Parts: sequence; C-alpha cells; structure tokens
Amino acid sequence: MIEKNEYFDVEFTDMTHDGMGVCKIEGFPVFVANALKGEKGQIKITKINSSFGFGRLLLLTEMSPFRKEPICEHFAECGGCNLMHMNYQMQLDFKKHRTKETLRKLGRIDTLVNETVGMVNPYYYRNKAVIPFAEENGKMIAGLYKNRTHDIIDMKKCYIIPKITTDIIKFLKNVFVELSIPAYNEKTGMGVIRNVVIRSSNKYDDISITLVTAIPKLPKKEIVIKKIVSKFEKVVSIIQNYNPEDTNVVLGKKSKVLYGEDFIIDEINDVKFKISHRSFYQVNPAQTEELYKKAIQYAEVDENHTVIDAFCGIGTIGLSVASQVKEVLGVEVIKQAVEDAKENALVNGIHNATFVAGKAEEVIQTWKSKNVDVLFVDPPRKGVEKEFLETVVQMKIPKIVYISCNVSTLARDLNYLQANNYEVIEVTPFDMFPQTSHIEAVAKVVLKTSN
Ligand SMILES: C[S@@+](CC[C@H](N)C(=O)[O-])C[C@H]1O[C@@H](n2cnc3c(N)ncnc32)[C@H](O)[C@@H]1O
Repeated sequence: MIEKNEYFDVEFTDMTHDGMGVCKIEGFPVFVANALKGEKGQIKITKINSSFGFGRLLLLTEMSPFRKEPICEHFAECGGCNLMHMNYQMQLDFKKHRTKETLRKLGRIDTLVNETVGMVNPYYYRNKAVIPFAEENGKMIAGLYKNRTHDIIDMKKCYIIPKITTDIIKFLKNVFVELSIPAYNEKTGMGVIRNVVIRSSNKYDDISITLVTAIPKLPKKEIVIKKIVSKFEKVVSIIQNYNPEDTNVVLGKKSKVLYGEDFIIDEINDVKFKISHRSFYQVNPAQTEELYKKAIQYAEVDENHTVIDAFCGIGTIGLSVASQVKEVLGVEVIKQAVEDAKENALVNGIHNATFVAGKAEEVIQTWKSKNVDVLFVDPPRKGVEKEFLETVVQMKIPKIVYISCNVSTLARDLNYLQANNYEVIEVTPFDMFPQTSHIEAVAKVVLKTSN
C-alpha cells in the first residue's frame, strides 16, 4: 500500500486526457503533472484516492525526445496550456490517440481517425479572452486562474491570446488604478471590476471590450472610454455588463453599449459574420475555416439538398454552406445569436436560410415532415439530448456531420447512432486549442442503406 509523502522512482507509461503522466506503483495508477509518456523520474505522492493517486515530479532521470521547454513563464502555475511541455507534433499525435481511444472505449466505435489538423503557428490564436480582475495585497492584478483554484496569476504575457489583448489588459489595469476604480473582491462582495472580456476580429482586427462590473454604473465611464479609444484605435465596441450575482458565470443579465456598436465583424471562408458580445463564436478563426471546409466536404451537398444547422450560434456553418444547397434550417437557443444569424444572412445576400430560436431537441420536431438530406450538429460540451437523437433516427436523415468539442460526449452520441442503423465513416480531429488538451473533432456519419 502506498502512502502520501512517500518517494518513488517511476516510469511513465501513459497519459491522462488532460496531459498528466501516468505511472503505476504496484499496479496502482498515479498521475503526475509535467511528465510525459516514456519518461522516467522521481516523484513524491501528494494525494491518494481509492483507485488512483497524484504525485509531484521531483526529478526527471530520462527525458522524452518529444519534450519541449514551455515558452511561457506562467506554465507551472497556470493550468491553461497544459500541453506546452510537448513539442507540437506530440500534441497533435496525443489528440489523435485520445480521440481514437475515447471513441473505442466509451463509444465502442472502431473507425478511421485521421491525423489531427494542426496550425502553422500554434500561438496567439484565441480571439476571445476572459480576464478576471482582483486586488492582492493592495495591488490590482488581472490574469488567468491558477490551476484548479480561484487565485489569479497577474499575467505578464500569454502565448495563446493576441499580443494586443495582453496590452489592453495591462493598460486597463493602469487606468483603473489611476482612476481609483477597484477590482471586485469575491470574498467581501465589494469593489467594481469583475472581468474584462476582449474579442477580436481575425479579418478586420476590430476589437470589442466588455467590462463586467459588480455595480450598476461604471464610475468615471467617460474618462475610461476616452482613454481606451485614444490608445487603441481598433476598439470599435465597449460594453458594460452588470453582474451582481455571487456566481462563476461571467456575464450578468444586463448590458449596455458605452461606445460604438454591440458587435464586431469577422469573416469565415468569405462569409461575413456579425458577432454580438453574448453570442458564441469559435475562438480560433483560422482553424474554423479548415474545420468548416472538412465539415462541408463530409456533407457532400448539392443544390437540391435541405440541410439543418443544429446548435447554429450566429449561423456560421449554415451560412457557409448556403450557396451550395437549396435550403438551410438553423436552430439555436440564444435569441440574440439567432437575430445575428438572420442579419448575417441578409448582410451576405443569403435568402435560403431560416433561423429559429429554441431548443434543438424541440425545434427539430417541427421539421419532421421535411425531407432533410444533411444534419450538421455542433452542440456544447455536454453533447445532444437523447430526445434529439431519437428524432434524427426517426427522420432517417441520410447524412450527419457531427462537430464536437468534447470527444467523450461525441463517443456517447455516436454510439447511439451506431446502434440505430448509422455508420461512423471517419473522424478528423482539429487542433482548435493548441497548447491545451482540448480537442475539437468532426465526424462523418451515414445512414446504412438496406441493400
Ligand atoms: C459549440 S457552440 C456552436 C455554435 C456554432 N455552430 C458555431 O460554430 O459558432 C454550441 C451552441 O449551442 C447552443 N445551444 C446550447 N444548448 C442548446 C439547445 N438545447 N438547443 C439549441 N442550441 C443550444 C449554444 O448557445 C451555442 O451557441
């Protein structure tokens, strides 16, 4: 029996889904951060549960040839880029392997999993940053949460958000200090600034800033706005969001525009999109273009086809394929996103797309009588409701292109489809989130024909 605080010499034979090294001590699995498969080292046991434990790496005695020195000084304490100690090829291989294994183990799906589609430059890609603010020993800090805590790292640099985003955060910190606008304190419920959300357009470089405050009015708001826009000319939208709740949810119910518009414009594969501050939008636009190209290729659409874009957000997939099909039907639960989708259709001169606000599992019932040829489905991490899949099976939709940001729920949902006369033809992982263990994947699924 192993115990906490004991020391062991170990060999790492596997990796967890979030990139920790796995070693076995007398058959008992122990997970260790910053250790790679194939490495050997000395660890100290830090925690023991009934079926697994955690350890801290003290010394590496044998190093993987795929190890890379993390370029970020916050790597050790920030849990964000938990694969930064792997070279990029190893990150891509890790994601392919995890996709294949998760589909096999959780979904009993043995299908072709292609190589992960990676980025040429896997840094500075995130078009959205949510940065919490706090006071620490009388000093204002802003950054990312320390791994598994609510403590904030005062961010000096971040390698996955654009450099200008980091500059804006540092600038705002100085502005708030200069104007004596304090950060919100989670424990006392006092203070003003909770979070700052920055979104940038890949195509036009436009930036929107959402200041999330714990009180209804932003003090000295004219001065704050003037300072921001005179320093950063690309800022076209400043929003104040009021969030008085004791919650981890970033945005509160009320927002108001302080400067410019409530949106920025971006383009994916030559289609323009208006993105409101509340709407979901893929965080890595360059990879999104590649992902959608693959999704449309899997769909094998023609001009007679009717397609559904389920969980459509602001209509990005449906509008990208609209010119190649007869009709697009989109459904999305956030009303503002649906309004954006409708407007995006108009802006792009697209007249064959209809967008409905509602739950996909309910709205799809109203399309049962339609002859749907392709279903694009791109749900949140929890996957789709069983009710939704039941309707899809009843409708006998010939082709499904499932885009997923969580391979576990993808495996569960594909398992259901496989058990109901569908075949998973192939899956391609996309590296939408380089340096992190998050995986995006697209699956091509077809209805089996009777002969
Ligand atoms: C992963 S995002 C995909 C959005 C869009 N396809 C895109 O690529 O930008 C998932 C979307 O599903 C929406 N959503 C969540 N639950 C829903 C439901 N039950 N019915 C319809 N939409 C839902 C979310 O608001 C979000 O916009």
